[in-house]
Amino acid sequence: MAATGSGVMPGVLSRIVAIGRSAPDRALLRRALDELDARHRLAEKIAAEPNLAAIMTEFVTRLVDAFGSLAAIRGQAVLDIACGSSSSRSPVTGRQTSEFEPWMCRLLVELGAHPVGLDIGDLAGEAFEHHRVDLGVPGALDFLAPGSFDAIHESRLFGSPEFRAAHGSATERIRREIHRQERRLLRPGGVLIHSDGRRHG
Ligand SMILES: C[S@@+](CC[C@H](N)C(=O)[O-])C[C@H]1O[C@@H](n2cnc3c(N)ncnc32)[C@H](O)[C@@H]1O
Repeated sequence: MAATGSGVMPGVLSRIVAIGRSAPDRALLRRALDELDARHRLAEKIAAEPNLAAIMTEFVTRLVDAFGSLAAIRGQAVLDIACGSSSSRSPVTGRQTSEFEPWMCRLLVELGAHPVGLDIGDLAGEAFEHHRVDLGVPGALDFLAPGSFDAIHESRLFGSPEFRAAHGSATERIRREIHRQERRLLRPGGVLIHSDGRRHG
């Protein structure tokens, strides 16, 4: 176990810290995860739902791959589409789960970025700009200004129980619309961190 500013960091968080590719990035990540643990009980939630560790690992890896270093994220305006919420449910159990709380936006806050989270679920009390929107409604993202984001993340919307129940039959139309909006909202040279709405290859 590694010592942190607030005590001893649980091993599961230390393993995520190790994803950082440089000593400064690992120090940044250690502080960020320490804050997430203090503010949102991250380690306790991972102990209850171990797949949350895989999700955090995936998010950190995506950020490192997209930006080259975690230090480069400071000051970046990042849109997270279907960011997760405190009321989001699991596609496996159908029940509310800690796995899909807005961890990417929370992590971005701790890394010094300016995330904007969009979700249909409950985001009350979150420390980042957020909007409750139904992404299946045509024009749902029109209120955001063109070219206003340095980076965009969108992950696991289409398989979610909320989406399938409300919009499952319109998946392809909505996927195309999200892809179009990503191109509109990203500034020239901006980074697509990840998108299930974008066709790869
Ligand atoms: C499986 S979670 C994914 C959370 C996070 N992006 C991730 O990758 O872990 C899917 C999210 O999509 C949101 N969602 C589902 N249907 C939506 C809709 N029509 N409009 C906005 N958000 C929706 C849910 O509330 C949930 O937070």
